[in-house]
Amino acid sequence: MGKLSGKVAVITGGASGIGAATAKLFVQEGAKVVLVDLNEEKGKAFEDELKAQNAEALFLKANITVEAEVQNIFKETLDAFGKIDIVFNNAGIGRVTPTDELSYEEWRNTVNVDLDGVFLVAREAIREMLKSDGGSIVNTASMYGWVGSPGSAAYNAAKGGVLNLTRSLALEYATKNIRVNSLAPGFIDTPIIPEESKKELASLTPMQRLGTAEEMARAVLFMASDDSSFMTGNTLTVDGGYTAQ
Ligand SMILES: NC(=O)c1ccc[n+]([C@@H]2O[C@H](COP(=O)([O-])OP(=O)(O)OC[C@H]3O[C@@H](n4cnc5c(N)ncnc54)[C@H](O)[C@@H]3O)[C@@H](O)[C@H]2O)c1
Repeated sequence: MGKLSGKVAVITGGASGIGAATAKLFVQEGAKVVLVDLNEEKGKAFEDELKAQNAEALFLKANITVEAEVQNIFKETLDAFGKIDIVFNNAGIGRVTPTDELSYEEWRNTVNVDLDGVFLVAREAIREMLKSDGGSIVNTASMYGWVGSPGSAAYNAAKGGVLNLTRSLALEYATKNIRVNSLAPGFIDTPIIPEESKKELASLTPMQRLGTAEEMARAVLFMASDDSSFMTGNTLTVDGGYTAQ
């Protein structure tokens, strides 16, 4: 029996990178997965790929920054699968811009997806989990929620916000059987990292390589499953040693 046998998991950013690798692992562990993403082409293709392997998967196109669309994700999940046990709150964006060149619009857009969107998804997850017997929420932050870096002020501020949002929600719902934890990845080989930056980012990492999306998925599985049943309000930092420096 898998670690997530009979569980229903919603995964935002589920069409690509860390979200997609996590969906694959969750399916292997017996979960039904709802893949939420803005990218309809990739999301549909991935849904088909999982279904071809006899998995129960559903792709929903939604923007996590639009309140009504986030509410619809949960309605459609309940219609399809009847319950929600796990939410991997993972969709995000990031790009490097020196702060003196950072427009207010770009700042707002980054914080809107990487922090406001995480709040909207977490709030809806909590509303549904309060109606059932609880659940597990895993928010994707970043090692740049712990430490700073040049050229990513908006991203880093948002990810720092995700870490403290996680702690706050965990405390608020600790007695309701809703656990809330975060993943803080280092540099991971996914489409969010431009090809031309990969070599340099690997060299900045003590282990001298990028992490893989599958390595992130295993940490997410731990936090999503009962293996971490006494863990809440905390973070797994999986960064090849970066923040140990
Ligand atoms: N790859 C890294 O090095 C790294 C490091 C630290 C943190 N992270 C975080 O991991 C998470 C996943 O990123 P990834 O590396 O898998 O990148 P990715 O680009 O492969 O995946 C992100 C997915 O989120 C989706 N998305 C973006 N905005 C959305 C929105 N408003 N609504 C719905 N979906 C949206 C994208 O379409 C994409 O499919 C992000 O939160 C990112 O900040 C990544």
